[in-house]
Amino acid sequence: MNEHSSQSPHARRRFLAGLAGLSALPLLPVRGSAVRAAEPVLVEARLTAGTARVQLVPSEYPSTEAWAYNGTLPGPVLRVKQGDRLRVRVENALKEATTVHWHGVRVPNAMDGVPYITQRPIEPERDFTYEFVLPDAGTFFYHPHQRGYEQMGRGLAGALIVEERDPPKVDREILWVLGDYRLDADASIRGGFGNTMDKSHAGRIGNTVTINGKVPQGPFRVRAGERIRLRLVNAAPARVFGLEFRGHRPWIIALDGQPVEPHRPPGDVVVLGPAMRADLILDMTAPPGSRHAVHDGFYRRLAYKLVDLEYGDETPMRTRASEPPQLRANPLAEPDVRNAERHEVLFTGGMMGNMRGLGRGMAWAVNGVANGCGDGGLPFEPLFVLRKGRSYVLHLVNDTRWHHPIHLHGHSFRVVARNGNPTRHKEWLDTVMLDPRERAEIAFVADNPGDWMFHCHVLEHQASGMMSCIRVT
Ligand code: C2O
Ligand code: CU
Repeated sequence: MNEHSSQSPHARRRFLAGLAGLSALPLLPVRGSAVRAAEPVLVEARLTAGTARVQLVPSEYPSTEAWAYNGTLPGPVLRVKQGDRLRVRVENALKEATTVHWHGVRVPNAMDGVPYITQRPIEPERDFTYEFVLPDAGTFFYHPHQRGYEQMGRGLAGALIVEERDPPKVDREILWVLGDYRLDADASIRGGFGNTMDKSHAGRIGNTVTINGKVPQGPFRVRAGERIRLRLVNAAPARVFGLEFRGHRPWIIALDGQPVEPHRPPGDVVVLGPAMRADLILDMTAPPGSRHAVHDGFYRRLAYKLVDLEYGDETPMRTRASEPPQLRANPLAEPDVRNAERHEVLFTGGMMGNMRGLGRGMAWAVNGVANGCGDGGLPFEPLFVLRKGRSYVLHLVNDTRWHHPIHLHGHSFRVVARNGNPTRHKEWLDTVMLDPRERAEIAFVADNPGDWMFHCHVLEHQASGMMSCIRVT
């Protein structure tokens, strides 16, 4: 396609081995900018899911036995450039089967990591190699899709960052993978995964919130005047975050990896449900030597301070902060909302709902059907069969008293309305938070063939009925 590109994928290969924690991956030394991406760069990595002892809580307390990728919590950051091809060999050193799902990445169906639907689960001591091209730049993450409520609850998750070809100018880029664990007094992870109480209420909300796998032990140091790009990933199984950067007004420049018109979130609070991501521009506009809390007040009775931002004494790098530029859009097909075919999706159940079927471990339903999916090895009937290339609007109705972050695999969608009112930003998401009793209309072109999971990302809800599948053919 491009005569300048004569290198084979082998010559342009990078291998991301032995990555520690949150270290950035080495980038190819030469990536000639004249060479357009006719042949994607191949990036290779290896992930081993197994048990590991990690220091989740401050060092005066015991360490914690977790389930981790490559022994670290969260797993290594996979960092590639838009258009690269990623090949990841996943080895299973757990005592149970697993898979890896590349949340938000528009992968071919066979690479989606859904047990029994897109692949056979990876049995203990076996491996599976995923390989796909990254069509979109943005902040994504990976996690198991097999008994996720326990496998993620014990720590399996990691960030996948797809860099823009022309990233916005900032002084620093920071990644916070937010975790939430339910620990006992000896810092061990408490059992009881998938109990009826968690299933039928808000899911397994923990008692220990972590940033990049650790309870913050000191302040996060910043410099006056600097501009930070903060990538946030909510890798918690159930907790919703509502982050307030006291004394600061963050800009949101991307949601779920997809660029959005830069805007201040309502009330300057960044709300992130499970599996959701946000890219923020944080201008450090406070004076040198000052200190400001990052506060999470999403659950009023469980409000807490996540960490402090602590300014050094240096003179400000700059005194004025301008509005950040808009990121370049990813190549998503624009839905024809006016002529789209419309379907309703009704979410019901939960404690105080009129749900039958709790007896067989189900607490929720999608259009009246409760699927526990996958884990039981049952491929099930799709909710809808969509024609490839056509536009669809799904009317999502949360007929419950609970929050549900609803995730569609294989596609990003625009949220075009909430409770009947057009949204301001028509944001592209892959996971849309439905507040109690809320309705949302999502629009997308069904352009990726296959059977795609469509489920709540509160993992106990997913496991107890709030799971379905959409076929694109
Ligand atoms: Cu993040 Cu079906 O998953
Ligand atoms: Cu839910």
